[in-house]
Amino acid sequence: MKELYITTPIYYVNDIPHIGHAYTSIISDTIARFFKLYNYDVKFLTGTDEHGLKVEKAARKNNSNPQEYVDMISKNFLNLSEILNLSNDDFIRTTELRHKESVKFFWEKLVKNNQVYLDKYEGWYSIKDETFYQEKELMKKNGSFETIDGEKVEWVKEESYFFKLSRWQNKLLELYETNENFILPKSRKNEVVSFVKNGLKDLSISRTSFSWGIKVPDTDNHVIYVWIDALANYITSLDYPNINKHGLSMWKNSIHIIGKDILKFHAVYWPALLMGANLDPPKQIFAHGWWTNEGKKISKSLGNTIDPLEIVKKFGLDQIRYFLLREITLGQDGDFSEKALISRINADLSNNLGNLIQRTLKLNDKYFENKFPFDLSDNQKFKVLEYGYKLLDEVESNMRLFQVNKALENIWNFISKLNQYIDKTEPWKLFKENKDETAIVLSEIIESIRLLGIILQPFMPDSSSKILDTLNINKKHRGFDSFNKHNIIKKGTKLKEVKQLFPRYNV
Ligand code: MSP
Repeated sequence: MKELYITTPIYYVNDIPHIGHAYTSIISDTIARFFKLYNYDVKFLTGTDEHGLKVEKAARKNNSNPQEYVDMISKNFLNLSEILNLSNDDFIRTTELRHKESVKFFWEKLVKNNQVYLDKYEGWYSIKDETFYQEKELMKKNGSFETIDGEKVEWVKEESYFFKLSRWQNKLLELYETNENFILPKSRKNEVVSFVKNGLKDLSISRTSFSWGIKVPDTDNHVIYVWIDALANYITSLDYPNINKHGLSMWKNSIHIIGKDILKFHAVYWPALLMGANLDPPKQIFAHGWWTNEGKKISKSLGNTIDPLEIVKKFGLDQIRYFLLREITLGQDGDFSEKALISRINADLSNNLGNLIQRTLKLNDKYFENKFPFDLSDNQKFKVLEYGYKLLDEVESNMRLFQVNKALENIWNFISKLNQYIDKTEPWKLFKENKDETAIVLSEIIESIRLLGIILQPFMPDSSSKILDTLNINKKHRGFDSFNKHNIIKKGTKLKEVKQLFPRYNV
């Protein structure tokens, strides 16, 4: 059985979830569901990142102790995964015992392998990004330094353990060169390669000026740098250090879905750390773009954050999933606005998909008592269906490269073809002249709707299951192994009453 291990970043619990979190999770969920339908053994992981200065400060600001605070906020993310109908198999929290033990073991392994030394760190640190910066990476504004995103940095001077990252430069470059698709999209890969080619400094991996973290083994005052702690979540969930054969083969098939802002941690630090602890790098990293809100950067200080729970409540989950997946081109940034969302819902979901199903099934009800009207199984010459059966291969090749929007484009091209086919054949007129011919036309379209119901499951789980229910398709026959002529709907199958799936919205 083929395996796939797919992960989202784990989310900081300093604040409530926003659209960016929902986006990363929905992409990952769609890919996980897609390969489950191919019968892959899929493990899908998400969770929360709960240590570090940023979270400690948020707790303090809220007059809570950190543990109570993270317990509370982590629940919001757990709730979000339910609202988004995520199919995750595990939800990890970095404050769990299993994770603390895994991180300690990972640290000790690095120490044993002579990858760690004690020194002093002196330099800039951004609490918002939990990142150390070199001065050349910052901008000077009004006499003080800030990150290119305009975040404040503070000067840190403290004793610190370091990871010998600089030693891994060649190995990393070799990794990028020999694994063509290790980092996708390609443009992001080029950024990483030039970053590494510029030379790597050893990485500060412990802090002493606060205590909310996992203690460095055998020290009193060091906590492990939150990014080491966070990255290790991906192996904790595979039971590291007791990672068994199954865990190791899962790890060989691991894909991290992340936002472009955290690529350096995943594509540079993480593989080096893993190799330093005698583990393989992940198989692949995909970095997606960022959403703006009506053209503006989304930020709490601008007060323009988008609450995923609110928009899901207002427009429906599958509508939001569809919009987020369709609107952005692979890896690029996209702009969120209710106007764009409504126009997608009205045009693609109500008019194209919804209308296709409604009008076909209503006509079929009227002319053929809501039963599948024709035996298509011996038919050698399909009109629209011929294209339909090929759709899955097209969609699959796009999904393998995370081109989710293109995969949806393929599907919607098919939907348009079907609508054109109805318009051209005009079954409402044809019926008066040729009943058999009408039965063939409607059968081809209804069978096509079965294919749509199957192929749309990863993207819009709820609506597609309603479509398949309407066609009376057995739950056992909803996998991609049923996406073929052999599973064609049988003549006489009773269909259910069709209900409206996607109401229109007024602009
Ligand atoms: N805790 C770290 C990740 C550790 S993974 C080992 C972190 N958390 S985060 O909560 O700040 O961000 C999580 C994800 O949300 C990132 O992938 C980030 O790119 C994504 N987004 C945050 N804002 C976003 C947008 N405006 N648009 C799209 N995604 C964005 O980083």
